[in-house]
Amino acid sequence: MKLHGNTVLITGGTSGIGYELAAELSKLGNKVIVTGRDQANLDATRQKLPDVHTIRSDVSDLSAIASLYQQVVGEFPELNMLINNAGIMRKINLQTHESDLSDIVREIDINLSGSIRMVMQFLPHLKTKSSAAIVNVSSGLAFVPLPISPIYSATKAAIHSFTQSLRLQLKNTNIKVIELAPPGTETPLFHGDFTAQDTGGVTPMPLKTLVRHAIAGLKKDRLEIRPGLANILKLMSRVAPDFMVRQLGRSVGLMHAERD
Ligand SMILES: NC(=O)c1ccc[n+]([C@@H]2O[C@H](COP(=O)([O-])OP(=O)(O)OC[C@H]3O[C@@H](n4cnc5c(N)ncnc54)[C@H](OP(=O)(O)O)[C@@H]3O)[C@@H](O)[C@H]2O)c1
Repeated sequence: MKLHGNTVLITGGTSGIGYELAAELSKLGNKVIVTGRDQANLDATRQKLPDVHTIRSDVSDLSAIASLYQQVVGEFPELNMLINNAGIMRKINLQTHESDLSDIVREIDINLSGSIRMVMQFLPHLKTKSSAAIVNVSSGLAFVPLPISPIYSATKAAIHSFTQSLRLQLKNTNIKVIELAPPGTETPLFHGDFTAQDTGGVTPMPLKTLVRHAIAGLKKDRLEIRPGLANILKLMSRVAPDFMVRQLGRSVGLMHAERD
């Protein structure tokens, strides 16, 4: 697809992958709007990227999605690209987690339900465009779970599946459906809840390298963009699925030891 002259909405564009995608897409000559929950982060983004528009919005809040839609199509009726990037990742010990049954599914509300709801809210608008795209950000963990992040991994497998179905259901439209499955990438999320041992000592991909792969993949119309280790995880999940789950599950022992 051409990567200039688009109007792009990126959820969670105030940090990490979303921020860097916003910076690059803006540089390439696209109009970019980013969202996030934290007003201070939105203000900081606006300062650093003065051409990028910011709107405070939480993808896990139904009414916020509806008002975001009204505002975006009102102010940017040429919107033709949606990047569902907002996400959180937590380390959760399922044996000891003090289970507030509402909080335990927070990742589902944001990473999965948020993305699906954003698609459904913006789909009728995107269908009116001669050329449009939906990019769903999944993860290499869509293909093999990281068992210390069970809910997160489940959301990413589900986003992978949803994206495959969406692509087929939209095959007779002008909307391209793309999955970006990053490997571990140098962002606040990668370090948030996790030690180097938790992530198997994997060196995260530099943010700029990840975004370079993403932009190149989008330009080449790749349906599934799987840079670096994400591609290896997909291949290995087919060759040796049980072995891979055991490999990524090694940090469960460490998590249990933390408790004892
Ligand atoms: N970094 C990695 O290793 C990695 C690997 C594979 C996939 N990914 C995926 O890449 C995406 C971006 O992750 P990242 O590493 O760039 O994380 P990040 O640096 O923590 O950035 C996350 C962004 O999402 C926003 N956000 C979080 N919850 C939100 C909500 N409910 N509504 C709207 N915005 C929200 C955050 O802003 P506020 O907190 O202010 O809302 C922030 O702008 C995620 O989907 C993640 O799962 C990351």
